[in-house]
Amino acid sequence: MDLRGRPLRSVLYIPGSRERACEKVKRLPADGIIFDLEDAVAAEEKVNARALLTRVLTTGDFAHRVKIARINGLDTQWGRDDAMALAQVPVDAILIPKVNSPADVSAVAELVPNTPLWAMMESPLGILNAAAIAAHPRLTGMVLGTNDLAKDVGTRFRADREPLLFSLQACLLAARAYGLICLDGVFNAFKNDAGLRVECEQGRDMGFDGKTVIHPRQIGIANTAFAPSEAEIDLARRHIEAFNEAERSGKGVAVVDGKIVENLHVLMALQMLAKAEAIENIKPVVAGDEE
Ligand code: COA
Ligand code: MG
Repeated sequence: MDLRGRPLRSVLYIPGSRERACEKVKRLPADGIIFDLEDAVAAEEKVNARALLTRVLTTGDFAHRVKIARINGLDTQWGRDDAMALAQVPVDAILIPKVNSPADVSAVAELVPNTPLWAMMESPLGILNAAAIAAHPRLTGMVLGTNDLAKDVGTRFRADREPLLFSLQACLLAARAYGLICLDGVFNAFKNDAGLRVECEQGRDMGFDGKTVIHPRQIGIANTAFAPSEAEIDLARRHIEAFNEAERSGKGVAVVDGKIVENLHVLMALQMLAKAEAIENIKPVVAGDEE
């Protein structure tokens, strides 16, 4: 199923070894889940986590939530078995870590004939090859791995993320050029709500579809930041009305709040309303269970 059009405001990483967290997420308002077998799982737990995750994904009902499974790299002793096990279970995509080139996607594609593939964009070479990676016919999504990237580049954490902006934008451009989903990286300080909000709003303004998050308390902030606000929904409706009115009187453009409204703004307004409706259609989760 095509994931574009499904909300992905918040996508929660869950260590694939934590059964309780895999259960808990069914009561959390995350739009998506990345069940992780890679960096969140210790070496001695890898094999058990694979078996657990295969069972959880086969039997669990995660409702509307988009299900992504992150495998270990094929250059590790676990990657090949992860890919082959997850190819057999219902997931929306398999996420490949540390993708450096289209060949890294092809290597997994050979083991996984049907499931859509996503790429972690988290190495200097990967960022430099972003366009070629995005062009891979099996790829449908990219996820920024800002921690690994910062490590390899030597970037220090900064609240404005200025040192990372080129990399973020390179991936976004590549993803958009080929119609892929693109998710922003995580915010490590999971108790710092204000800092997370700023980073979510920055990612949203840049054009990301949503934020990857590491802790349940981060979900609500990402959901709010990446959802159209009431004011945006109102403005979208006024754009559509004003443009239709202008067309009826033979004009190709309208003016709303002192700003020009062209056909492209109407398309943007329609997309925004469709997104708002898709969010509206998500059944509310049980309140008070987000910690
Ligand atoms: N997904 C689902 N549930 C989670 C969760 C997650 N990512 N992180 C925490 N929880 C749950 C805990 O299980 C706990 O639930 P419980 O009380 O019902 O057992 C509750 O939320 C509160 O957890 P808390 O005690 O605040 O966090 P912690 O100290 O147990 O864990 C982290 C903190 C950061 C280690 C944990 O959030 C985590 O492992 N996050 C994911 C990390 C990851 O996947 N990294 C790889 C990609 S960057
Ligand atoms: Mg990583």
